[in-house]
Amino acid sequence: MIEFSEVGLAVDEYDIAGEHRQVTILADVNLSLPERRVAVIGPNGAGKSTLLRMVNGLVAPTTGIVLADGVDPVRDPRRARRQAGYIFTDPRSQLVMSTPLADVELSLRPRVRRRADRHRLALELLADRGLSDIATRSVHDLSGGERQLVALASVLAVEPTIIIADEPTTLLDLRNREQLRRAFDALDQQILCSTHDLDLASTMDRVLAVENGRIVDDGAPGPVIQRYRERMTMAPAGDGARP
Ligand SMILES: Nc1ncnc2c1ncn2[C@@H]1O[C@H](COP(=O)(O)OP(=O)(O)OP(=O)(O)O)[C@@H](O)[C@H]1O
Ligand SMILES: [Mg+2]
Repeated sequence: MIEFSEVGLAVDEYDIAGEHRQVTILADVNLSLPERRVAVIGPNGAGKSTLLRMVNGLVAPTTGIVLADGVDPVRDPRRARRQAGYIFTDPRSQLVMSTPLADVELSLRPRVRRRADRHRLALELLADRGLSDIATRSVHDLSGGERQLVALASVLAVEPTIIIADEPTTLLDLRNREQLRRAFDALDQQILCSTHDLDLASTMDRVLAVENGRIVDDGAPGPVIQRYRERMTMAPAGDGARP
């Protein structure tokens, strides 16, 4: 379960003239998320990625507290990172080894001591995702969809209880989107993802709409997405982002 209590983020900024101002990036976020599949939707710059990053401590709130299955990422960032695995929009930034096999082996390192065991388990985890054929291919040669699935295998190797995915389908074609959605469906872990892919959002248990750094809508996918579409087609471009 993911919980946000009175969470806010304000940052100091200096404009071109050197004038100081404080910018509110998130405010008044109160959420209790027991659902297994939660999507965060909202326009560019609304605060979706910032919200997600708080769950595993990549960003710390300036007010309030976030709990990921009871772990406060500010007080215990290492545990929070194990608990909540993060998948970036472009997994190129997180696949650090040269092949899928080596990357999954690296993720296994903290919990599997023997090298031979890591090798065997990494091959099993890649097979689970249907990636055996590309286990030793250069990560640079992989397609976007393959890379997303390798990133998922690597993150799952750490045995997290929560998967955070920031726009996981943005770079994918229709077939790979479907494949990733099915992979998500089959996972036992809780999933919190941000997305502009409203088809993906519609398959989730609960959808949060973020605008101007605030949760403006929250509930079942159908009505939340419908109202979001209405607001976005009525509002002038860029109106949903923070001022
Ligand atoms: N450390 C920071 N300092 C200043 N501004 C920041 C910082 N981090 C984020 N922002 C700003 O906060 C706003 C929200 O950013 P965020 O990345 O969370 O948006 P988003 O909803 O994920 O947008 P997108 O759909 O484009 O990915 C943006 O205007 C961004 O420029
Ligand atoms: Mg984002």
